[in-house]
Amino acid sequence: MTATDVPQILLNWLNEHDTCDSVAVAENLKIPHQKIIGGIKSILSHDGVINTEDYSVSEYVLSDEGELMAKEGSHEYNLYQTIGADGKLLKDIKLANVKVAQSKALEAKWIAIEKTENGPKLVRKVDKVEDIVSADLKKIAAGKAEELEKATIEALKKRKALTVQITKGLKVSKGPNFVVTLEKPELDLTAEMLANGSWATKSFKKYNFDALGVPPSSGHYHPLLKVRTEFRQIFLEMGFSEMPTNRYVESSFWNFDALFQPQQHPARDAHDTFFVSDPAISTKFPEEYLERVKKVHAEGGYGSIGYEYDWKIEEAQKNVLRTHTTAISARQLYLLAQQKEFKPAKMFSIDRVFRNETLDATHLAEFHQVEGVVAEKNLSLGHVIGLFTEFFRKCGIENLKFKPTYNPYTEPSMEIFAYHDGLKKWVEIGNSGLFRPEMLLPMGLPPDVNVAGFGLSLERPTMIRYGISNIRELFGPKINIEMIYKNPICRLEKE
Ligand code: PHE
Repeated sequence: MTATDVPQILLNWLNEHDTCDSVAVAENLKIPHQKIIGGIKSILSHDGVINTEDYSVSEYVLSDEGELMAKEGSHEYNLYQTIGADGKLLKDIKLANVKVAQSKALEAKWIAIEKTENGPKLVRKVDKVEDIVSADLKKIAAGKAEELEKATIEALKKRKALTVQITKGLKVSKGPNFVVTLEKPELDLTAEMLANGSWATKSFKKYNFDALGVPPSSGHYHPLLKVRTEFRQIFLEMGFSEMPTNRYVESSFWNFDALFQPQQHPARDAHDTFFVSDPAISTKFPEEYLERVKKVHAEGGYGSIGYEYDWKIEEAQKNVLRTHTTAISARQLYLLAQQKEFKPAKMFSIDRVFRNETLDATHLAEFHQVEGVVAEKNLSLGHVIGLFTEFFRKCGIENLKFKPTYNPYTEPSMEIFAYHDGLKKWVEIGNSGLFRPEMLLPMGLPPDVNVAGFGLSLERPTMIRYGISNIRELFGPKINIEMIYKNPICRLEKE
């Protein structure tokens, strides 16, 4: 008999008997109870064919020891028989359960213990005994447990002769739509059924609103993009607007010169920067601004003596893969300065930058920077520290320290350190500062406007967040695709 026959067998049975008890039917037809339940469940998917009601019964079942005592007499009874009319030395008694037997027989006052020279001796105290325990167990085995007193049953349970077995079953009766032969329900309503009217007489499979459904096939965000989403959200919450970062190739002018970075600066060397060979140079610059930049480098101005060197346009024209997103910040600040009236601005960017680095477990030749810039009148270092504190607090980082450092374009400049609870030490998380007047004033920004900026890498927090220790597992050809598929979304502030 196959499992698929069970519903039909049950329907035939119901047709004949009107009701059916899953346990009784299972016994009667010698089909495992589980299969009967499965069959009932499958009939239930047809609306109104049957009604069911759960029930459970508890039954007493003899344990192995109980069975033995029912068959061969209780331990105490066997002991009583063994010691005979003359009694027997304890050491000569060869019964398996002599300890239990002795204590039960003593309790029943069937026997007594006598001290002798050869050790304890068991003797009968009464002439005749009746093995009630064995008789009771026989009754239970015969299904007549109800004839016994509750206390008797409890005592047998206590001496582990009995266990309680709970059977759960279903009582089934015919439903309003009872049929002996099930029609295979339709899974879908089709245009054809509507057109020919057959829908009216067909039965339909019930919707399963608990089904999970097929997961939609879709792409998966790389962890860097997940962390970027989170940073972007934090910036937006703080009222920052996003700068356009769609420019990997940048002129040296915007990447370095505009930032008051001298043309002999080592960062402008091919060892540190990727120069682009085609197109090798940029030619369009805001003329007047370029002149002012040239002057501040070569001769100084705005209260500065500059670098006092021969500034060359050829050097500024060289195209590079941008080495930091501060090139974009420079462009945006220049645009800000061209407005008729100065308006404070808070801007951010998160995108890729390139450096000609020696590759190792924590360095790649390309990475992402997260950068924020705030331009406002009379901004002080206190404001700047407040801004960072708030930004990093939203990222789940509370404990900050600032250490003076050097950047060509900021003064003062501060490295930002955070206390890493896991590593139990301060780790550098970013770089920051107030942009120099030699950078801002040539752009045309009013002298009382200060601009604070800060930058950090996107890779470091991502590696910490996703527990990745080698950057090559995060980015590049060795990346584990499965990791991208499986890793969770990022919630920085919920740490
Ligand atoms: N450009 C800096 C870097 O690459 C970060 C920075 C941005 C520093 C803005 C100060 C101000 O590390």
